[in-house]
Amino acid sequence: MSGKYSALRPGPLAGQVAIITGSESGIGRETARVLAGQGAAVVLNGRCPERLARTHELLAAEGLTVVSCVADVTDYAACQRLVEAAISSFGRLDILVTNASISQRAYFLDMQPEVFRQVLDSNVYGSVFPLKAALPHLLAVRGSVTFISSISALNGMPSGSAYCAGKAALANLAHTLRLELAESGVHFGVVHIGFTQNDPEKRVLDASGQPVPIAHRPPRWQKTQAEVATIIWQHIRRRRQRTVISALGRLILLVHTLLPRLGDWVVLTSVRRLRKFYE
Ligand SMILES: NC(=O)c1ccc[n+]([C@@H]2O[C@H](COP(=O)([O-])OP(=O)(O)OC[C@H]3O[C@@H](n4cnc5c(N)ncnc54)[C@H](OP(=O)(O)O)[C@@H]3O)[C@@H](O)[C@H]2O)c1
Repeated sequence: MSGKYSALRPGPLAGQVAIITGSESGIGRETARVLAGQGAAVVLNGRCPERLARTHELLAAEGLTVVSCVADVTDYAACQRLVEAAISSFGRLDILVTNASISQRAYFLDMQPEVFRQVLDSNVYGSVFPLKAALPHLLAVRGSVTFISSISALNGMPSGSAYCAGKAALANLAHTLRLELAESGVHFGVVHIGFTQNDPEKRVLDASGQPVPIAHRPPRWQKTQAEVATIIWQHIRRRRQRTVISALGRLILLVHTLLPRLGDWVVLTSVRRLRKFYE
């Protein structure tokens, strides 16, 4: 892909183009702000035209180079349009961050099968479809792909079955792609995010598929969205295979790798003592 885009902003990503799915809000929006601040042109994405337009205006007003594309990333044709937005606007694509996701607050026993599918699809096909559409362009520039996962994919979390399964699948997908495309020079990495502050309007699905506020998490356990976005940028810059955010995340990884029964005991004890944390 030849670069018809000439960068407006200096920085380590000057002249590069990034797509960040689900960047109309939350961590995706802050990651867009950080990557664009480093010089990238960023294609913003989401399903809600009004919210996407607000985010676009906000970032453009800060002097950042952004375009936006409304697209449901579980729809392959929409993902092709999303990638086309990058190519028609800037002539190339260097970085893909698959961040869009629906989460849940529902026990498996109660969950409608269709809700399970919706959450799983958003986390698995919501990464697979943008990647399939973007890959020819990323191969041309030895680009970078980051799948946004969660520390809950490192073990499992009661009330998060479809979400955890989908996020865990991304780690295996990244690993397999690293092996299949070892010669391509494309970076495939996963960022396992821990508890992070949320936009007040963030919603997850309950067992019947209704949007509900996310379960309460003690603020002192949460990173800011800006902190997480900076870590995602460091992950992309260093082309890391895996980044696990927060001391808690690294502890979960260690305990569940070396002492899985102890890990399960801690989770089960916390389910009894901190029910609100899960429900
Ligand atoms: N916040 C945390 O504590 C935390 C912890 C671990 C991992 N993460 C991960 O970090 C990422 C961002 O989370 P967040 O907290 O910033 O959540 P968020 O505020 O809900 O942002 C997710 C974005 O994805 C969009 N989206 C969902 N499904 C989509 C689809 N099919 N097509 C296009 N856009 C879609 C949402 O828009 P709609 O309004 O259209 O749904 C929303 O803009 C997610 O992958 C999440 O799993 C977050």
